[in-house]
Order: sequence, then C-alpha cells, then structure tokens
Amino acid sequence: MVGASLAGATQVVAQPAPAAAQSPPELPWPYKPIDAAKAAQAAYDHYYAGGCMFATFEGITGELRQSVGYPYTSFPRYMLMYGEAGVAGTATLCGALNGAAAAIFLIAGGIRPERKELAFAMTRDLFTWYEQTDLPDFEPEVSLFDIVKSVSGSPLCHASVSNWCKAANAKSYSPERAERCAWLCGSVARRTVQLLDAAAKGGFKPTVALSAETQTCGSCHDHKSAREDTRGSMDCGGCHFTNQTTHSKLKL
Ligand code: HEC
Ligand code: HEC
Repeated sequence: MVGASLAGATQVVAQPAPAAAQSPPELPWPYKPIDAAKAAQAAYDHYYAGGCMFATFEGITGELRQSVGYPYTSFPRYMLMYGEAGVAGTATLCGALNGAAAAIFLIAGGIRPERKELAFAMTRDLFTWYEQTDLPDFEPEVSLFDIVKSVSGSPLCHASVSNWCKAANAKSYSPERAERCAWLCGSVARRTVQLLDAAAKGGFKPTVALSAETQTCGSCHDHKSAREDTRGSMDCGGCHFTNQTTHSKLKL
C-alpha cells in the first residue's frame, strides 16, 4: 500500500461547526478512580486489536467511558493506533508509554503551567520506572506463553524489544514477543492508574530517580550545565559510553 492514494479514504468534507455545547471540554477531563487491576487486564485484552499504544490508552481510560461517560465517549481512541511498535513500526518511543502519556495529559494535564508540569512530572516518573524495572510485572488471567522479564534500559521500543529478545532468546517478530508486549501494556496501564490515583488525591510525588550516571552526565551536558549541548532523561549509557567505560575525548 506504500504510495497508495489517500483520495477515497480521506475525502475531506467540510463538517458543520459543532455548537459550543458539543465541543469537548478543556483539559483536564473529569476523573473517577479506576480499578488498576482491571485496567491492566483491559490493556492486555486490547493489545491484539489495536497495538500497544491503543491498548494502554484504552486500558487506562476505557472504564471512564462508563463511570464518567462524556467526554470520554467522544474521544477518537482508534487514532492512537498510530503509536504501534514505537510509532508506525519505527521502534522509537514505546507505544505503551506513548499511550500512557496521552492518558496522563488528558486526565491530569492541561494548558495551565501547573497542570502541564504535573502531567509531565508523572510522565517522566513513569518513563524512568519503565527504563529501570524488570518488566513485564503484570500477568494476564489467561496467557498464550510464559514470559520472562527484562530491563529495557530505555523508553525506546527498539532497546526494550531487543533487550527482551536477548533475555528470552526469542525473535523480535515472534508471537512470544507480541505476547510480552501485551503483558507490558498491562504493567504500564496499572502503574499509570496508580500515578493518576496519587495525583487525584493531591499526593503525587516522583518515586523513581534518574540513574546516578545520567545525573552526572547531565550535570555537564543538560539544562543549565556548562555545555548545555543535549537534553533528556533517557539513560545515557544505553547509547554512549558510561562512567565505567571511557569518555572518549575528556580527561575527567
Ligand atoms: C565534568 C563534565 C562532564 C561530564 C560529567 C560528562 N561530560 Fe561529556 N563532555 C564534556 C566535555 C567538556 C566534552 C567535550 C570534550 C571534547 O570535545 O574534547 C564532552 C563531550 C561529550 C560527548 C561528545 C564527544 C565525545 O567524547 O564523544 C559525548 C557524547 C558526551 N560528552 C557524553 C557524555 C556522557 C554519556 C556522560 C556520562 C557518562 C558525560 N558525557 C559526562 C563534559 C562532561
Ligand atoms: C537513544 C540513544 C541515545 C541516548 C539514550 C543518548 N544519546 Fe546522546 N546522542 C545520540 C546520538 C545518535 C547522537 C548523535 C551522534 C552523532 O551523530 O555523531 C548523540 C549526541 C550526543 C552529544 C553530542 C555529541 C558530539 O559529538 O558532540 C552529547 C553531548 C550527548 N549525545 C550526550 C548525551 C547524554 C548526556 C545523554 C544522557 C542524558 C545521552 N546523550 C543519551 C544517542 C543517544
């Protein structure tokens, strides 16, 4: 289908402007406590229908369509299928994390700086937890395979999948790998609901620290450092040298 015309599939027909009352409300959308265990199972169940990003978002927010109703009933959730396998199969950002980050911003975020900062802090905490934790730590009620755990060392689909393939001695396009990612969606959905619950009670505090190494690297390279020539909180050593190996040109 590469190169296929988009005409036909997406005829752009002008829609009448919705009345103001029909427009979805501004963020954050209303929240009612979600059952974390059910969210995890729902994320697993939806994985095979729409991929990792859709599954995780749906696992977290699906219950709100019933408990809150509108505006959740209006959300075009299938658009989140774009995030499958690190966005359209490119293995960049893990789709489970992408779906969770979208749900966090929808439920806890907003354009006001304090809302945005809260959602970003929750998202960063989730990403760092994912990077450092032996996952998946969720097991569905019925599963296709037994799944071994691994540490991704990265929020990227590429590293997460590859490190798991090494640990499991399995192929990256195997049904076992798909099942592992389905379990992982459950882990990420459950963790996200726990963060949302803490935030709803006004008690969210970051729980996972960046690795000491990433903090050290950042102290010379990240925001307000002497060089300020990079940014981010991904673990540096996954792609560069580490404190234990060499800093090629630098005499520390
Ligand atoms: C004490 C400050 C300091 C710390 C800590 C530090 N760097 Fe650097 N880094 C520098 C400086 C200064 C340069 C430029 C050196 C040069 O060009 O000769 C540099 C260069 C680099 C470069 C580009 C040049 C190269 O050597 O490849 C990379 C990549 C890099 N650092 C990554 C890291 C990582 C990853 C860490 C943590 C493991 C780290 N740095 C820790 C100061 C630091
Ligand atoms: C996902 C892989 C990845 C991670 C994680 C990563 N980097 Fe990089 N980094 C790169 C790539 C790729 C480049 C571009 C290198 C090039 O084109 O030569 C780069 C470039 C850099 C440069 C400039 C290098 C130069 O030659 O001047 C610095 C400094 C740097 N990274 C520091 C860091 C630090 C500090 C961290 C951790 C906070 C980090 N990186 C995490 C992949 C990564």
